[in-house]
Amino acid sequence: MALKAMYEVPLPGRLRRAALVRRLALDDSGLEARLRDGLEAAEKQLLADADSAQDPRIAGLTGHLTTAGGKRLRPLLVLLGAEFGDPWRHGVIQAAVIAELVHVSSLYHDDVMDNAATRHGVSSANARWGERLAVLAGDLLLAKAAQLAAELGPEAVALNADVAGALVAGQLSELVGPGRGEDAISHYFRVISGKTAALLAMALRTGAQQAGAPAPVVRALGEYGEELGLAFQIADDLLDLKAPTEQMGKEQGADLAAGVASLPVLLALADPTPRGATLRELLSAGPTAGPAERRRALKLFRRSPALAEAEAMMHQRLDRARQALADLPPGPALRALNALCDFVASQTG
Ligand code: IPE
Ligand code: IPE
Ligand code: MG
Ligand code: MG
Repeated sequence: MALKAMYEVPLPGRLRRAALVRRLALDDSGLEARLRDGLEAAEKQLLADADSAQDPRIAGLTGHLTTAGGKRLRPLLVLLGAEFGDPWRHGVIQAAVIAELVHVSSLYHDDVMDNAATRHGVSSANARWGERLAVLAGDLLLAKAAQLAAELGPEAVALNADVAGALVAGQLSELVGPGRGEDAISHYFRVISGKTAALLAMALRTGAQQAGAPAPVVRALGEYGEELGLAFQIADDLLDLKAPTEQMGKEQGADLAAGVASLPVLLALADPTPRGATLRELLSAGPTAGPAERRRALKLFRRSPALAEAEAMMHQRLDRARQALADLPPGPALRALNALCDFVASQTG
């Protein structure tokens, strides 16, 4: 199955996850079975933990996005990290659940920040319950992740605390914008390192750590995860401009509508040609731009060199991610991590 098809066909979550596992396992039936079973076990615990509040109205709110879907990329990264130690060790599955809870929590907050109406093909929590409840639901999920980390011990608590801090700091930096004199592109990378890459790195590290992998392996996986995460966010930013809403389960041009300074937007704003000037004018309206302006901006984007430039920067990061894998022990998990770089690259093609 072509990789882009992961987005093109609105398959139920379970089938989408199986397709991703198959693609990464590269015909290694042992790895495929371990990943599939691990994801299945994590999924059960995740669904139970996400809506564990006693009050069914609150449980419905906090379980909403988890039930609606998602690729479960972070649990998959935990399981792949664990392949570098003993993947059967107690704690690996719980680490996978923690990583996804942190992710889902960030989605509740992100949809409030972006004023997004849809997520995972359903109404966002803010659209359905309002912003106040959506923010608190995100907080409750983050608290649940912390409780589960406490059950695993101090190393898991430390990783979880670090990632929660980095992630929320990244989201805050996005909202407050570049500091005085700070270059917009450097600020962008600071933001996405916090809001996206930190969690991908943490997922790999915590999986490896729980499985008892050696410290240099844990470190290398963290470096790989950071670079992969930067590339992953650039790909997501490109998809916002390129992929129709029905492929994504979230609205096309949502970043434009929310006035998010994504990498292609920043690059397009710097375009010195008349097309750049028109785009600057269209985008200067920010979140107040109407649907007609947005459509026009999207059209101009498709012809702008900014998309190709952003794509080149994504490939740079993927090259660095592959380089970080250089000293890791060979085997199916290493091949899967390389295949994951191809997966990210293929999304924007
Ligand atoms: C979405 O991440 C948010 C970003 C970090 C770009 P995913 O694409 O992994 O989210 P799911 O699969 O819909 O949960
Ligand atoms: C994703 O940022 C980062 C987090 C969810 C923390 P985006 O705003 O690009 O995510 P999407 O595009 O809404 O999934
Ligand atoms: Mg968003
Ligand atoms: Mg996005």
